[in-house]
Amino acid sequence: MSKNTTGNMFRVTTFGSSHGKALGAVVDGCPAGLELSREDLQAELDLRRPGTSKISSSREETDEVEILSGIFQGKTDGTPIAAVVYNKDADSSAYEPFKNKPRPGHGDYTWTAKYGHYDYRGGGRGSGRVTIGHVIGGAVAKKILELLQIRVVSHVTQIGEIKANHVAYSLVEEYSQENIVRCADQKTALKMEEAILKAKAKGDSLGGIVETIIFNPPAGLGEPVFGKLDADLAQALMGIGSVKGVEVGFGFELAKSTASVTNDEYYFEKDQVRTTTNTSGGIVGGISNGMPIVVRMAVKPTPSISTVQKTVDLKKKEEIEIKIKGRHDPCICPRVTTVAQAAVNMVLADHLLKGGFIHPCRL
Ligand SMILES: Cc1cc2nc3c(=O)[nH]c(=O)nc-3n(C[C@H](O)[C@H](O)[C@H](O)COP(=O)(O)O)c2cc1C
Repeated sequence: MSKNTTGNMFRVTTFGSSHGKALGAVVDGCPAGLELSREDLQAELDLRRPGTSKISSSREETDEVEILSGIFQGKTDGTPIAAVVYNKDADSSAYEPFKNKPRPGHGDYTWTAKYGHYDYRGGGRGSGRVTIGHVIGGAVAKKILELLQIRVVSHVTQIGEIKANHVAYSLVEEYSQENIVRCADQKTALKMEEAILKAKAKGDSLGGIVETIIFNPPAGLGEPVFGKLDADLAQALMGIGSVKGVEVGFGFELAKSTASVTNDEYYFEKDQVRTTTNTSGGIVGGISNGMPIVVRMAVKPTPSISTVQKTVDLKKKEEIEIKIKGRHDPCICPRVTTVAQAAVNMVLADHLLKGGFIHPCRL
């Protein structure tokens, strides 16, 4: 059993692997009449692709996308939108030593326990490269969100122990695009970059925190009790490789406080109900309340590091040591911002359709 499809009405199926022929996605359930071009998908893929900065993997992939179906005269036609990206710089030779020798921190052993084998060439379907499918699905979803002026922005707020200072939400998108760490606090971004390069020089890696803000969501998104908006967002974000924690609003901080401090009190802004604070992160009872939605995720340090690590030889049944070569991000947080946006876009598009905010057949 495996699961490669997400969503109920806006359904995205992804396919492909790190060192296979291609990766991509099939988006079904997108209403007809949505303006969509190859460039819309390419712009998002360019933000995710490796080899673009000194703190990302040096794998040289242009990740050029081709749309195979679902578009007629520049608009979606209501049929499945299939899009594909061919692998061009897959170098499997660096992975030969990891045959039958699961790399610590990767899914190699757990895939073997489940399926009886794993794709030792870069992790196959367990690789970060499969998020190309997320980004394609998210790029289509983004166009649906734009119809309602909903905008999703992800940025890095922490790398290792280094925390960014708070930046006004209205400035986060612009400021975080001005540095390679994708952190809105420019000064701290430089310190983060230094820390990542230091870890890389030592053959090590770093993790961090990526925050996603949803601007201008309508009140009423979410399907209690098994399709709550916060639950669906958490599932989507936890599904991204290397994400080990998700919190909504003040999240784990709420556990330390009291309701007299943390309850978000209501007031009227013209005829709109708003809250004076937003500790709930814009979701109460599993349903959006119209305030900005804020979700943070903890990203673990990139597992492939070049220091010596202990593992086992599954064939010879002995304990061994390995040293990982290959091209890896010393910290994946900057590139994961694009994937987080895509994952959140897909959840929102699905909820907009389920909630009746968008007509399911045509615009
Ligand atoms: C966009 C993206 C890029 C990634 N790049 C790498 C990489 O270069 N090297 C690596 O070891 N892990 C990388 N990962 C992380 C692994 O895929 C992930 O940690 C691994 O599959 C184990 O899954 P888990 O951490 O969710 O348990 C990447 C993940 C994402 C989302």
